[in-house]
Amino acid sequence: LAKAEVELGGIPEGKNVIIKWRGKPVFIRHRTSDEIQEAKTADWKKLRDPQSDEDRVKRPEWLVMLGVCTHLGCVPIGEAGDYGGWFCPCHGSHYDISGRARKGPAPLNLEVPPYDFNDAEGKLVI
Ligand code: FES
Repeated sequence: LAKAEVELGGIPEGKNVIIKWRGKPVFIRHRTSDEIQEAKTADWKKLRDPQSDEDRVKRPEWLVMLGVCTHLGCVPIGEAGDYGGWFCPCHGSHYDISGRARKGPAPLNLEVPPYDFNDAEGKLVI
């Protein structure tokens, strides 16, 4: 299995990075404390794909997910949309700062791939 490694020290708070993993884009966001707060306090039980932020991240400051819209597979744009997260320009799906589908045709949240932290090397391993 192909693994991708990312140096986390190179991603400042409030920034997104996109890497390729098995031919797909993976979004990594170093979330700010305000963003973490917003992600946690959203009323997730009412969402179309109900998932708490805690169930989507291993560490609150790092959001890691596939950059593939769950509608028809376009790549959403970061720091865009009505919920402070991502916006898919193909048919107008909005995702929040936890990558959860909030508005538009996307039926599901952006998928979280398996990943781990290598603390000794300061890396994320996907
Ligand atoms: Fe993203 Fe249709 S592919 S909204």
